[in-house]
Amino acid sequence: MTLLDCLPSLHNAATPRIDPAIWPFTTTVDELGRLCVGDVPLTDIADEFRTPTYVLDESDFRRRLQGYRTVLRDVEVLYAAKSLLTAHVARWVAEEGAGLDVSSAGELAIALAGGVDPARIVLHGNAKPVDEVRDATAVGIGRIVIDSAMEIAYLACTARRPQPVLIRVTPDIDICGHAAVTTGVNDQKFGFTLADGRAADAATGVLRQPALNLIGLHCHIGSQITDATLYGEVIRRMIAAMADIRRSRGVILSELNIGGGHGVPYVSGDPELSVAELADIIDDALDWACATERFPRPRIVVEPGRAISARAGVTLYRVVSVKSQPGGRTFVSVDGGMSDNPRVALYGAKYTVALANRHALGPTKLVTIAGRHCESGDEIARDVELPADVHPGDLLAVACAGAYQHSMASNYNMVGRPPIVAVRHGKATELVRRETTADLLARDRGWSGGAGRHD
Ligand SMILES: Cc1ncc(COP(=O)(O)O)c(C=O)c1O
Repeated sequence: MTLLDCLPSLHNAATPRIDPAIWPFTTTVDELGRLCVGDVPLTDIADEFRTPTYVLDESDFRRRLQGYRTVLRDVEVLYAAKSLLTAHVARWVAEEGAGLDVSSAGELAIALAGGVDPARIVLHGNAKPVDEVRDATAVGIGRIVIDSAMEIAYLACTARRPQPVLIRVTPDIDICGHAAVTTGVNDQKFGFTLADGRAADAATGVLRQPALNLIGLHCHIGSQITDATLYGEVIRRMIAAMADIRRSRGVILSELNIGGGHGVPYVSGDPELSVAELADIIDDALDWACATERFPRPRIVVEPGRAISARAGVTLYRVVSVKSQPGGRTFVSVDGGMSDNPRVALYGAKYTVALANRHALGPTKLVTIAGRHCESGDEIARDVELPADVHPGDLLAVACAGAYQHSMASNYNMVGRPPIVAVRHGKATELVRRETTADLLARDRGWSGGAGRHD
């Protein structure tokens, strides 16, 4: 019999607050105080796959994609693979009836390995290597988003059939977010500006190429956007640009891709983009802009990544040491860090952390969760409330870890990247295995056991 059985009133105090806005839909706390996702205790995953490990709630991922497809009924949904991609994830996307946007040969290969129809894949990139473009056209990729004048020239040479293409446009809309993810203003590397008629000139360049079939315009104004009205402004400016191209170049474009960037909460109280509100705004803006410009309603495409994958993911870490600095903070150091989650160092991102292996009885204290890497900036979260008796061996779970963590992970300090383990209906399935020291050595030509070191 546990203390909780004797004193049921303790139960509330002992249950960590699991905010459904941040944690996977299936998160629960069992009678032993263990966090469970997909009906699997996270301690079981840590025991079997060790730590750090990325856990992915398949039901959460699928449900969010279904939500998009239900609410944005007349809109094509392309999942942004850059946020998180494995062959299984690609298969889930295909099974849920969505397409995929990719930005490299690697993402394309994994999407194809997951059985995604190449016709449902869109290729992006401001500096696509020529061989990657050639390979993408060879497999019959559905659409390519052109980002530079040079790309028009070499795509015209490599395309095997009239290749459907869109032109990426910067509509000069500032999301007032982090500079690293603000992509809709003129002074950044992506796309053709509306200013100076650059986008219309690009249209002329594409229209001259018989191997290219210009079907529409694309834009992506940035990430972590929570104000849906910005997409209304995107649509108004982009329809005006399409109408301008019709006037000056005599062609009616039929597709408008307004990108992704839909914001999600990382800590309780953070705002998030409402997909229902977005649906209304898209409709209203299209009605208004198409009526004003007397332009036929184009097919709308969106490319959410984070909004599908972020909340499905939880990262597990084992506490390695607890240290209170005199007059300073208490550091709870774990066995991962900026190599598996660079977002804190890159963007100052905030995270929610919970004790995952036991009831949190007794007093709590505010701590900093620190990583294992050789930088003082290697932190996972500050001001996290944990039991005052947190100790080495405890298991911590970090919420909202599905997007831009595995896909941005590195080998800093020659640490192997963690595995991804999917959970669903009480079953855990390894989607990507842990990277081992042997994997790291295998790439190193200086290792005497390495194959092909003289080539
Ligand atoms: C072209 C494009 N589409 C979609 C996305 C997905 O953005 P998010 O994951 O914020 O939805 C990105 C992110 O960088 C992007 O560059």
